[in-house]
Amino acid sequence: MALSSSIADKLRTAIEARGEAWIAVSGGSTPKRLFEVLSNEALDWSRVTVTLVDERWVPDTDERSNARMVEALLLQHKAADAEFVPLYVETATPEAGIADVRTRIRALKQPLDVVVLGMGSDGHTASFFPGGDRLGETLDLSNTAQVLPMRAPGAGEPRITFTLRELLQAHALYLHIQGDDKRVVLDQAERPGSNLPIASVLRNAKQLDIYWCP
Ligand code: 6PG
Repeated sequence: MALSSSIADKLRTAIEARGEAWIAVSGGSTPKRLFEVLSNEALDWSRVTVTLVDERWVPDTDERSNARMVEALLLQHKAADAEFVPLYVETATPEAGIADVRTRIRALKQPLDVVVLGMGSDGHTASFFPGGDRLGETLDLSNTAQVLPMRAPGAGEPRITFTLRELLQAHALYLHIQGDDKRVVLDQAERPGSNLPIASVLRNAKQLDIYWCP
């Protein structure tokens, strides 16, 4: 799979340069096959830290948990040696847990090496949902917060998300989408003046590799 090979190359390059690599992946259903293939890529996974672009505020026993999916599909096979940094802590709300999450990701001193974004049919990416209570803050490129809580009508449950600024700093940024409906949404987001959250990525990314499959 081309996307998996490309990500593996970026991780190898980071490990060669710095001795470690950080990757943030998306949840949802689209990356399932990618995770299966990526988990079999030959590289020194013991030097890789995996985290999430965003997380639903549910424990990892919940089937909505992105951490649960990453653990089941990505942190397997050759990738079983990777370290995983979850974005969920056991507090009732993301607002209550965010300080602990910030402590956890303090080890992230460089920009992320690899970020793999997904996109919803409403044009959200990460947890940048239309109508999100902190959408403005998360998209504000002058905001130096790495992660923020997010609540939105279309989000299902409260979320925590890396901010746009943090994600755009990644050495390699991918957008991975599947299906004709998402192609249509992406086309809309590419039009000048679009206020879909994904348009903020398209407009501001220094580089973005888009992988679409039917
Ligand atoms: C999440 C995600 C989110 C996801 C899109 C696409 O936790 O929901 O990280 O941003 O990438 O919602 O999800 P699907 O792949 O399920 O369509």
